[in-house]
Amino acid sequence: MKSFVHVKGHPVHPALIPFPFAFLPGALLFDVGSLWLARPLWAITGYHLLQLGILAGLAAAVPGALDFFRRVPPNSSGRNRALRHGVLNVAAIAMFVIVCALRRNGFVTPTTLALELLGVLTLFYSGSLGGVLVTRNLISVDHRHANAGKWREERFSGPPGQPLVVGHADDLKEDQMKLLIVNGQRIVLARLKRGFAAFDDGCTHRGGSLADGVCIAGCVQCLWHGSQFDCTTGEVRNGPAKKKLRVYEVKQYQGDVLLVSPPG
Ligand code: FES
Repeated sequence: MKSFVHVKGHPVHPALIPFPFAFLPGALLFDVGSLWLARPLWAITGYHLLQLGILAGLAAAVPGALDFFRRVPPNSSGRNRALRHGVLNVAAIAMFVIVCALRRNGFVTPTTLALELLGVLTLFYSGSLGGVLVTRNLISVDHRHANAGKWREERFSGPPGQPLVVGHADDLKEDQMKLLIVNGQRIVLARLKRGFAAFDDGCTHRGGSLADGVCIAGCVQCLWHGSQFDCTTGEVRNGPAKKKLRVYEVKQYQGDVLLVSPPG
């Protein structure tokens, strides 16, 4: 789904990542070169690259953390992957900060070099997890397939069991969906050929966001592994999911769409 932090639709986190990925391994190369080729001044360049890399890593972490909290579906395999990605990045930056602190005079020792190498390897592994978050979990992917509409997310709260106005009948075109966060619960509102349907956002396979999926002819498909569900009954039409989706009652009244508010 579309990144939470973006500039005119362009995600910010992936745009900032190349900087720490250039500076920090670059610092390691200069530091190795300073020892290997006996060029002590190269270590000064390595030290400055290290400082720049830490700052760039912290700058990239801010939109990354916001995307984690606001975009990655909770209780999903993607959430676990994103958590590992974030924790490893923090660990890598902490290692580089320690290296900086140990190198007050700017020069390299075997200990700082070993820690720097470990930091770079951690960064590479964590970066590969970040890549999977985009390519497999579709975090930051802004779908533009036919009739998809723009990503929409709205928050509501109301007394449980009571109808709640969650939109207007012509907010969505046929086969378009939007994510409702009702009393903290993620629910998808989908417009079908006849009327509306509402169901849990979390795919019952591994928690992919169905609001980020594709709705066609009364059926919603999860884009993580392809499970398909009937929008009205929640029944599984195609696996790998085995468990049906929870569905919610939706009514239309004088042009408004009403959802019976679930418990908070
Ligand atoms: S998470 Fe696997 S099909 Fe939805």
